[in-house]
Amino acid sequence: MHAKDMEARHLLQVYGQLAIEPDAGDGVYLLDGDRRILDLYGGHAVAALGYGHPELLDVLQSQAGRLFFQSNAVAMQVRARAADALAEFAPRNLERVFFVNSGAEANENALRLACRLTGRQHIAAIEHGFHGRTAAAGAATWGASRWYGFPRKPFDVDFIPRDNVAAVGDLVSGDTAAVIVELVQGVAGAVDLDTDFVQAIAAACEAHGALLIVDEVQSGIGRCGQAFAADIYGVQPDMITAAKSLGAGFPCGAVLTTADVASATGKGDLGTTFGGGPLACALIEKVIEVIRRDDLMKNVRELHARLAAALPLGPVERLQGIGFLAGLRCTRPAAEVQRELLEQDILTGSSADPAVIRLLPPLTLGTEHIDQLLEILAALPAN
Ligand SMILES: Cc1ncc(COP(=O)(O)O)c(C=O)c1O
Repeated sequence: MHAKDMEARHLLQVYGQLAIEPDAGDGVYLLDGDRRILDLYGGHAVAALGYGHPELLDVLQSQAGRLFFQSNAVAMQVRARAADALAEFAPRNLERVFFVNSGAEANENALRLACRLTGRQHIAAIEHGFHGRTAAAGAATWGASRWYGFPRKPFDVDFIPRDNVAAVGDLVSGDTAAVIVELVQGVAGAVDLDTDFVQAIAAACEAHGALLIVDEVQSGIGRCGQAFAADIYGVQPDMITAAKSLGAGFPCGAVLTTADVASATGKGDLGTTFGGGPLACALIEKVIEVIRRDDLMKNVRELHARLAAALPLGPVERLQGIGFLAGLRCTRPAAEVQRELLEQDILTGSSADPAVIRLLPPLTLGTEHIDQLLEILAALPAN
């Protein structure tokens, strides 16, 4: 019996699913029966070090054997080390960390902090941005009315049209608690925002005392070829949220804040049972260590450049996005091209843009894998 049919027995049928049923992974490949599928989707930007990475398995096993779980009611060296590693990896002004369990939870807490610290009730977000499915994160997500479900939003939201500098001046004011922005919009199709636009947002936040929250749930932890996309845009956020690649598959998230934001928080202001648990923290520390030691951010930059140099090709007219948060803009429906690639054992991601396929591969990808993609694309019809 197919897993899909078994799942349908009891699981809510809320996901459109791909036409594969992997039950193992090996490096950058997913294994489905006899098929070895090159994974350029990375479990939605999560599998930063691929599958079966020996050091991740080792650290997971040894931490599990030593102490499987303890909550934030006790201090733990492994949690302190993970926070040290993350703060050191982050832009210099972000030196404080709050660990959570997911991207939406990280954004929920960042938005809560912004409203509390400023005492304001307005959030500005960007058209086509995605921030997660919880009450506050969903409220700041473009187009969420299809699934939002709650009777009202926790704050007023203004959506700034993408790359519209003039609109920043109109929509960010002394009433704005925070602007939340994905510098490279993932779900939208790996759309990298204009630097002028991002800098205008940062300047407006500064001028009006609004906090700048950069959602790096998808773009962060090396995926854009730097530790965080904020490093590329030259802005200094008040908070960065991270998840996905942070645990390379172990569920976790984090809010990174400035000392100023941190100093306005006190005991009881935030909380979570599982966030900052020892397994997640052991993995966070190791993921950052491996990304730095193996120069994986350089690998990302070089392979992005290799891909860019080979396009246009077959049904792909152009590359967008940064590093391994990349979009292939197609000359025909992306779903068609995605299906044809999968028939040839290359897994890619879809996006909200019907013309764009997303590439979110492990940072450990090699030149040979990019070349494999290029060879197959070259043989696909443009129209
Ligand atoms: C930019 C961004 N923010 C937030 C989220 C929500 O993360 P999670 O699904 O871990 O709650 C996502 C998930 O795709 C995302 O891409």
